[in-house]
Amino acid sequence: MLNFTKKDVLKNKLVLVTGGTGYIGSHTTVELMNEGYDVVIIDNLSNSEKSVLDGIAGITGRKPYFEQFDICDREKLENFFKIYKRLDAIIHFAAYKAVGESVEKPLMYYQNNLTTLMNLLHGMVHFNIPNFVFSSSATVYGQPDKLPVTEEAPFKPADSPYGNTKQIAEEIIRDTVKVNPQIKAISLRYFNPIGAHPSALIGELPRGVPNNLVPFITQTAIGIRDELKVFGDDYDTPDGTAVRDYINVVDLAKAHVVSIKRMIEKRGKSNLEVFNLGTGKGSSVMEIVKAFEKASGVKLNYKIVGRRIGDVESVYSDTKYANDELGWKAEIGLEETLLSAWNWEKNVRAKKK
Ligand code: NAD
Ligand code: WQD
Repeated sequence: MLNFTKKDVLKNKLVLVTGGTGYIGSHTTVELMNEGYDVVIIDNLSNSEKSVLDGIAGITGRKPYFEQFDICDREKLENFFKIYKRLDAIIHFAAYKAVGESVEKPLMYYQNNLTTLMNLLHGMVHFNIPNFVFSSSATVYGQPDKLPVTEEAPFKPADSPYGNTKQIAEEIIRDTVKVNPQIKAISLRYFNPIGAHPSALIGELPRGVPNNLVPFITQTAIGIRDELKVFGDDYDTPDGTAVRDYINVVDLAKAHVVSIKRMIEKRGKSNLEVFNLGTGKGSSVMEIVKAFEKASGVKLNYKIVGRRIGDVESVYSDTKYANDELGWKAEIGLEETLLSAWNWEKNVRAKKK
């Protein structure tokens, strides 16, 4: 049974956010609602919790619509589109995202990440939904030949089934809009999203041992992990540790609102556009460790170990196209971002006590 009823009169533009109780989806839902959009979330809670809706309401003062089901279930999705008739746009976050797990379980990743996408695109064609934003990843570039990396850089053979799902997904979207010019799409290639909402009411909730650097740092600082393992100090970088472009999740979320507006106002240059979402600045693992220590005042226990298989040496974005054409720029600094991650970690642990 879906939650939308005839009594619900929508005054604002309505956006479907798939994966909206997840990390980036929840922050984007907040920014959309703050900008006056109505939001309906579909999430099967495979990697998030329903309580995230309380966090969103705590920030925005209202809850988004929420429908819990698996987007791979095409019948349920079509029923959803029949009930939520007047969708202005879809932002598609729902996917599995653990690189290592995707190597172990490739079919699970291809099945989920591509079926969700194709079911949504089918729905857009059949129910006349005009605008689509896709969560892509800088992983499509692999180790780029030139840094900073522009949107023009070629895809490199994917290192993992996860990365491959992002490359294939971008191709599926391109082929679909080519023959359905009524649909506009924007692929946003995220670099390394980190941090949490400044309220500390929503943030990243990794299940089990985190794979990503910043949640591992905050869990080590709070005492859940003994020490951070720094993977490799023999890279050809200023301090020998690998370099990434870490972007605040609230800045990232805002880029989605700007993208939706651009499509609704028909300001796009073509019906498929691609933008890098990064800061343009590379930071090494040790720079992140030091910035975290400074921001939090906590001394971090860490050890240098060997490189992690599959890691690239250095990647950071050329932000010119997103800055000039999309009219969006990352604004929040690294220490403020790491402090937000730390405040979120402390808040989560306090609640679990
Ligand atoms: P997340 O796991 O926190 O959020 C994804 C959400 O989608 C979860 O709440 C999960 O329950 C839901 N979901 C997954 N499969 C579903 C399905 N079949 N039906 C319904 N719901 C489903 O991940 P995130 O970090 O917020 O990432 C969001 C998107 O951004 C993903 O597509 C991811 O690949 C992409 N991305 C993430 C990063 C990153 O570092 N976090 C970087 C680049 C790209
Ligand atoms: C960052 C740096 C590690 C953990 C991954 C995906 C990518 C994208 C973002 C979705 C690297 C080092 C990490 C640790 C460490 N996700 N590190 N000790 O690998 O750049 O990107 O997440 O699209 O596709 O591959 O991010 O946070 O895992 O690592 O030293 O315990 O931190 O080696 O240099 P990565 P990350």
